[in-house]
Amino acid sequence: MKGIVLAGGLGTRLYPLTKITNKHLLPVYDKPMIYYPIQCLVNAGITDIQIVTGGNSAGHFLQLLGNGADFGLKDLNYTFQQGEGGIADALKLAENFADGEDIAVVLGDNIIEGSIRKPVEDFAKQGKGAKILLKEVSDPERFGVATVDEQGKVVRIVEKPKEPESNKAVIGIYMYDAEVFDIVRTLKPSGRGELEITDVNNAYIQRGTMTADVLKGWWTDAGTFDSLLRASNLVAESGANRQDL
Ligand code: DAU
Repeated sequence: MKGIVLAGGLGTRLYPLTKITNKHLLPVYDKPMIYYPIQCLVNAGITDIQIVTGGNSAGHFLQLLGNGADFGLKDLNYTFQQGEGGIADALKLAENFADGEDIAVVLGDNIIEGSIRKPVEDFAKQGKGAKILLKEVSDPERFGVATVDEQGKVVRIVEKPKEPESNKAVIGIYMYDAEVFDIVRTLKPSGRGELEITDVNNAYIQRGTMTADVLKGWWTDAGTFDSLLRASNLVAESGANRQDL
């Protein structure tokens, strides 16, 4: 399985912190934000990784990460997203790199306490389709929100609903087969002018090939002032990407 870290976008919710640098280069406790999603993939045994950058200071990713020696990698791949057309628009750029293999996609501002090794292994056995990870949160209206039936099957996801049907957020770690790129080609921009990853996930749900697990340990995004502070505090208190969870 190949790994993709999506670190494009303009990070406008963190302005002026992101006026001259990229959101994913900002510190989360003792490391740049981008270190956490890369380490998350490496801990799951995924070492063939592409970073999709964009926006301000894209060249600084290369200066900071080089060939990934800090993560024990032999090399790292990079590509550049023009503008901020959305998460699914950034994902499009990984098609050549994925080259028909399954992929694990991590949003560059998502940080988890534990490991995704088990769900990655389960997805490899699944054979086709997609897998998402869910986490109960107190502020579901900020996220993609999943409605789950009595058998634990996700029946739909609504992006940032005003009146959420559940408190189960879809976290920014997704596993897909190669069909994902065909699905992305069918998408139309949403009300906020972006190609939405939630539309990709709903397409898999409609095909009946989506599975979902509940993530162990804490999870946070770091794309707002409050969540960036929360991310630093959580990492300081208990560490991130622990292999024992
Ligand atoms: O954090 C999980 C949430 O992430 C999910 O629950 C939502 O369903 C999903 O839409 C997303 O929500 P956000 O609105 O918070 O995503 P945001 O625009 O902050 O983008 C998250 C990351 O995706 C960002 O750190 C880098 C990458 N991205 C985003 C955009 C808009 C790109 O690479 N390119 C882009 O154009």
